[in-house]
Amino acid sequence: MAQHFHRYGIVTVTELIREQTRREVRAEAERLLEKYAERRDLRLKTTGYTRRSMSVVPSETIAGNSELVTSIYADPELLAALGDIAGEKLHPCPKEDEEFLITRQEQRGDTHGWHWGDFSFALIWILKAPPIDVGGLLQCVPHTEWDKTAPRIHQYLVDNPIDTYYFATGDLYFLRTDTTLHRTIPLNQDATRIILNMTWAGARDLRRELQGDDRWWEDADVSAAAALGE
Ligand SMILES: [Fe+2]
Repeated sequence: MAQHFHRYGIVTVTELIREQTRREVRAEAERLLEKYAERRDLRLKTTGYTRRSMSVVPSETIAGNSELVTSIYADPELLAALGDIAGEKLHPCPKEDEEFLITRQEQRGDTHGWHWGDFSFALIWILKAPPIDVGGLLQCVPHTEWDKTAPRIHQYLVDNPIDTYYFATGDLYFLRTDTTLHRTIPLNQDATRIILNMTWAGARDLRRELQGDDRWWEDADVSAAAALGE
């Protein structure tokens, strides 16, 4: 799994979590969405104006309202297993607004457009996936780097192969988010796709200053956000 992770920037880790826990986390995410979901529809300058169209539950809302999610996030056994795959220690995300994110794509055209993460590692829980023909599939370009002032995403797509993955309801994957350009294929009809993202930092991330006012999941009015029609 470590070898696969380093080569592709991603590895399926469903087997690390019991099925019962995965079912409980899905119910928890649906409860939080029901209560706290906020819609986002924007394009982001720091990723070359790629689109974000989905509902979200922001990090601090999840942290403050889900003991289940925060206890899994701090679980030493899980952290050890993911650390073995990463080949390095996982550190709690130093930005409290980026530890967790629940997203729900729901409308035709919804997508999490091409982007990288600010921190090295994410565990993604696929809590509800539409059928493969509807969209929501993950696409990755590993071994790439995010320059927020010149993201050059189309150049990366021209220069590298794009790996496409279908994950079904209940699957989990571990992603190297800072060096894997990734997106979801837009939904081609109204359908529901729900994920939970847990983010950890590598040691290198703890020393770095974050640039760009682009934390769109936390605040829809960040300066890097543009309206869809602009
Ligand atoms: Fe991402």
